[in-house]
Amino acid sequence: MESLEFNKAAGAILGALLFTVATGVIADAIFAVPSPAKPGYALPAAKAEGGSATAAKPAPSVPLPDLLAKADPKKGEADTKPCQTCHNFQKGAGVKIGPPLYGVVGRKKASVPGFAYSPGMKSKGGTWTFADINTFITKPSAYVSGTKMTFAGESDPVKRADIIAYLRTLSDNPVPLPKPVPEKKAAPAPAKAAAPAAAKPAAPAPEAGKASAPAATPAPAPAPAPAPASAPAKPAAPAPAAPAPAAK
Ligand code: HEC
Repeated sequence: MESLEFNKAAGAILGALLFTVATGVIADAIFAVPSPAKPGYALPAAKAEGGSATAAKPAPSVPLPDLLAKADPKKGEADTKPCQTCHNFQKGAGVKIGPPLYGVVGRKKASVPGFAYSPGMKSKGGTWTFADINTFITKPSAYVSGTKMTFAGESDPVKRADIIAYLRTLSDNPVPLPKPVPEKKAAPAPAKAAAPAAAKPAAPAPEAGKASAPAATPAPAPAPAPAPASAPAKPAAPAPAAPAPAAK
C-alpha cells in the first residue's frame, strides 16, 4: 500500500517535470527567437563613440562605394563575430558550417572545394563583388533562395560596409575599392573650367560684361576685392564679370 502511494507521488512529480520540459520545448518551437547578430545590447555610448560620422550615415540612400570609402575594417572585424560561428577567416583555414572567407571578395561564388553549397548558391554564378556581398548579408535568404546560410542579416548599412571593408583586407592582393559616386566631382569641374577662362583672357571680359551688362555695371565697385576667392563658389554670372576688373 505504502509503495503504491509512493508510486503515485513519484508519478505525479515526474508528470509535472515532463509537462514543464514539454511546454518549454513546444514553446521554443513556436516562438523561435533568432539569436541577435551581435551579442549584448547596443549601448548609446558606443554610438556616441563612433561620432557623428557613423551615427549620421545610416541613411539607406548613401551609395555603397561612398560607405566603403569611409568604412573601418577594424570595426568590421569586430562586427564579424557572428559570422565566425560559421566561417573561418584565416588564410588557409578550412570549411566550418560555412565556407572559409579568406579572399572571398572577387572569388567565384560557391567555389570552395569540399563545401556542399546549396543549389541556389551554386546556380548564382559570377564572382563576389562588394555589391553582391552587401546584398547577400543584408538578408541572405532574399538573395539566395534556399541558402544554407541561416543568418538573419545585418540591417545596418554602415556595419555592412565595415564588414565588407574587413573582408576585402583578407587577401594577398585586395581588390581595389570602388570609386565613390562622383557627386562632388561634378561641382568642381565647371569651376575649374571657368577659372582659367576668367583668368587668362582679360580682353573677353567685356564680352561677358555685355551679356550681363545691367548686372555688371552696378556690381564692379563692391565686388573687386573678395571676388577671386568667392567667385567659383558663386553663380556663373557674377564670376566672370568680377575677376576681370579686379585682375587687370
Ligand atoms: C549560421 C551560420 C552562418 C553565419 C552566422 C554566417 N554564415 Fe555565411 N555562410 C554560411 C553557409 C552555410 C554558407 C553557404 C551558403 C549556401 O551554400 O547557400 C555561407 C556562405 C557565405 C558566403 C558565400 C561564400 C562562397 O564561397 O560563395 C559569404 C560571402 C558569407 N557567407 C558571408 C558571411 C558573413 C559576412 C557573415 C556575417 C555577417 C556570415 N556569412 C554569417 C553560414 C553562415
